Amino acid sequence: MTRKTILHMLTPLRQMSPFDVNIAIDAGYDAVVPYTDVGLSDVGNLVQDAIFSRPPDAGVATGIFLAGKDAPTGLDMLDAAKKAMVPPFEISVFADPAGSFTTAAAMVAKVEKALAKHHERRLADVSVAIFGATGVVGYCTAVIAASEGADVKIVGHDGLRRVEEIAASIKDRFGVTVTPVDGSSEEKKSEIVKGANVLLAAAKAGVQVISTAQLQNAPDLLVAADVNAVPPAGIEGLKVNANGEQLDGTKAIGIGPLSIGNVKYKTQSGLFVRMIEAKKPVIFDFRDAFTLARDLAK
Ligand SMILES: NC(=O)c1ccc[n+]([C@@H]2O[C@H](COP(=O)([O-])OP(=O)(O)OC[C@H]3O[C@@H](n4cnc5c(N)ncnc54)[C@H](OP(=O)(O)O)[C@@H]3O)[C@@H](O)[C@H]2O)c1
Repeated sequence: MTRKTILHMLTPLRQMSPFDVNIAIDAGYDAVVPYTDVGLSDVGNLVQDAIFSRPPDAGVATGIFLAGKDAPTGLDMLDAAKKAMVPPFEISVFADPAGSFTTAAAMVAKVEKALAKHHERRLADVSVAIFGATGVVGYCTAVIAASEGADVKIVGHDGLRRVEEIAASIKDRFGVTVTPVDGSSEEKKSEIVKGANVLLAAAKAGVQVISTAQLQNAPDLLVAADVNAVPPAGIEGLKVNANGEQLDGTKAIGIGPLSIGNVKYKTQSGLFVRMIEAKKPVIFDFRDAFTLARDLAK
């Protein structure tokens, strides 16, 4: 018997993003159902309602998607969902809060490819400065890049305090080291840009964080990537569809938000398709997103 595929989409926020709903339906789910205002303590009950209402062999056709606006909460919800399974009653789970896991995965995968193709370097050989690091995309980007061995600096636009806390939480949760740096003035940002091989901008939409003057004073810069598609660009002069072209006035390669977004979309959609086609229930987080994004990035 062919089971209907059902996706229960949980978010701690007031609304589920239409972006995630559309991708899930386009990927092939028969039904998607949003649940809003979901607290961590609600996850177990919701998962158990989902597992016990279908026979065990329908578990693979039943999915949970975890949305939200912060990576640690998304991962805590993922753990709570896993703990709620009662074998053989098990279902698939995919966490991607604010699209951050798939966006960060796509950005780091594109940068990794550009480093290899244009500079014969690996992530483990480079210093990376991440702007917008207190955001959910920046956080996840830092974890993935540091896990691949990059020397990662997370830049605080309002000083050191919050990025210090984030660095400590990343060390505690993932066992990787990122260095907090103060980017609260143009002079401080210039120094950070000057010392970087890779610049990753994950700042708020429509906010320019790095200027052309700063880029031109970065002798070791190899790649600059930006996920903000709303003008002005996060990195001045970086075109939205840049895909490995030289960034004006530098010897660095630029990767723009539409090139990253293309891989992000295919990664998120691809993970939904894998959930739908899986023979056994699967669990996906940013690590799975990065594995798939690496295959997709060109
Ligand atoms: N291309 C794609 O496929 C794709 C997909 C998803 C998201 N995005 C983009 O990715 C970016 C990050 O998303 P997000 O959800 O992580 O965003 P977010 O939560 O709004 O955070 C973005 C970061 O920007 C910082 N910021 C805010 N105002 C700033 C300013 N004036 N100067 C410097 N930094 C500032 C925020 O700091 P605070 O912590 O102080 O607010 C935070 O660190 C956005 O531009 C979003 O549109 C792109």
